[in-house]
Amino acid sequence: ATNQSWGGRFSEPTDAFVERFTASVSFDQRLAAQDIRGSMAHATMLARVGVLTDDEREAIVTGLSEIRDEIERGEFQWSVPLEDVHMNIEARLTDKIGITGKKLHTGRSRNDQVATDIRLFMRDAIDAIEVELIRLREGMVALADREADTIMPGFTHLQTAQPVTFGHHLLAWQEMLARDHERLLDCRKRVNVMPLGAAALAGTTYPIDRHVTAELLGFNRPAENSLDAVSDRDFAIEFVSFASILLMHMSRMSEELVLWTSAQFDFIDLPDRFCTGSSIMPQKKNPDVPELVRGKTGRVYGHLMGLLTLMKSQPLAYNKDNQEDKEPLFDAVDTVGDCLKAFADMVPAIEPKKVNMFEAARKGFSTATDLADYLVRKGVAFRDAHEIVGESVAYGLKEEKDLSEMSLDELRQFSQVIESDVFEVLTLEGSVAARNHIGGTAPDQVRAAAQRAREALAVL
Ligand code: ARG
Repeated sequence: ATNQSWGGRFSEPTDAFVERFTASVSFDQRLAAQDIRGSMAHATMLARVGVLTDDEREAIVTGLSEIRDEIERGEFQWSVPLEDVHMNIEARLTDKIGITGKKLHTGRSRNDQVATDIRLFMRDAIDAIEVELIRLREGMVALADREADTIMPGFTHLQTAQPVTFGHHLLAWQEMLARDHERLLDCRKRVNVMPLGAAALAGTTYPIDRHVTAELLGFNRPAENSLDAVSDRDFAIEFVSFASILLMHMSRMSEELVLWTSAQFDFIDLPDRFCTGSSIMPQKKNPDVPELVRGKTGRVYGHLMGLLTLMKSQPLAYNKDNQEDKEPLFDAVDTVGDCLKAFADMVPAIEPKKVNMFEAARKGFSTATDLADYLVRKGVAFRDAHEIVGESVAYGLKEEKDLSEMSLDELRQFSQVIESDVFEVLTLEGSVAARNHIGGTAPDQVRAAAQRAREALAVL
């Protein structure tokens, strides 16, 4: 026998390199609080069904809460030979309370223990991430409401298309986040299922009551099948999928923020506290926060691919491969949390440069479609109207004049049906106000949409 907790059948100690190679304590110590919660609930359940005495349960729970304090104070001595967070804590418990500590692992395996710990951790992480996501959505909706009348060019192919309101653009972002929020909450449902009681893979011979443990730990229910319970990491993949889609969205927002802060667009200013300078070019103010969010998207995509590949072709039930789930998952949690925090702080502080936005919309012939629609209302077929307006745009390009800057006579060269009422439709304000239906960019619609978004957030 060797002196490991599983050393009974071994005749030589683990190779020193293999000991380090197989250990996970350097990163899974992050699960300590969840591991202790799970152990307390397990001991309480064992006492309830008569496998432990109440005194034994009491000693275990007291010992574990002291260990929790030691860890919080940074006094706990983590040991690599003890391999992982679970055996470190159990060994310390036995140090403290003696033989009773060795009874904690009755009817349990590290396989169901670690799966339970990660799920508890993910539940806490999801709840913290949701707080930041809500803060970001609220900030975005408030800014959209304030900017419901602010006109900017809308783009397709990154070419000026039609005028929109800045509020409408922000609410488009908000819709992306609303879907991400649904995905997060949906993922939480499948996270919140309890593996504990599956033991190594087949269940246990003790008269455990999994409903009691599930209730103590706030899980919705015990996992249905012990083999699946110890081997399933779908919830981790689902979370990182959520994170990847969220960051895909945030990278799109970032890209727009970066473009808009450039001198060439000059649509917005970001307060200095969200930017940094250059060590060589004294004039520079760089939009680092959106750039980094855009960049961090890549590492989270990498974690998604890593976890999918980790699980690929694994036979039932637990395999040591699964120890590799933690680092990508932790990093995805941290990255998403940081990106959301950065955005939730920064978005409400965006300062639109309204005159520049307005001028950019005016210069790009963004009301050309409005003129075509006007001609259609006067009886011209749409294809003919398209042609007529195309010619007037060509004229405007040559003369360096927007449609709204042309005289009635100039416009009438292209169609005799044009009358002085055309000027209402050629203004940017007229153009946005005319798109006055649910989902449209009219300022009144934007205010109504912001109100609906606020109500949806209020009932969460
Ligand atoms: N450190 C392991 C993990 O993270 C815990 C479970 C190990 N179980 C085992 N039989 N080796 O997955």
